[in-house]
Amino acid sequence: MNGTTRFVNAAYLDDLWEGDLLDVEVDGEQVLLAHLDGGEIKAYQGMCPHQEVLLADGAWDPDSNVLICAGHRWEFDLATGKGLNPTGCQLYEFAVRVVSDEIRVGIPDDGERHHNRFQT
Ligand code: FES
Repeated sequence: MNGTTRFVNAAYLDDLWEGDLLDVEVDGEQVLLAHLDGGEIKAYQGMCPHQEVLLADGAWDPDSNVLICAGHRWEFDLATGKGLNPTGCQLYEFAVRVVSDEIRVGIPDDGERHHNRFQT
């Protein structure tokens, strides 16, 4: 592991309006982009920590930041990536940089898959 992070263009601002979710693949990793109410852009693992359903297919309420997974209705706070129901899980969060109209996602150069699984 060398500790570096590569920032890779994942989407353009025009693809992700405030209050939108977007499912993207960045360097072979499934990533969920969320444009929060107020302007902040977050990037998390794209698949649910439970059984790897695509999180972008869930129901998303930008007013509360709560995403409900389409698989089995687990709930996540997309402001923090924390599991709300059940608690005790955390979505892997990627760094984000916006450079002019590009949304760039930071992929750590550690050879790992960046995906947290829920451990029971
Ligand atoms: S796959 Fe997301 S709640 Fe089961």
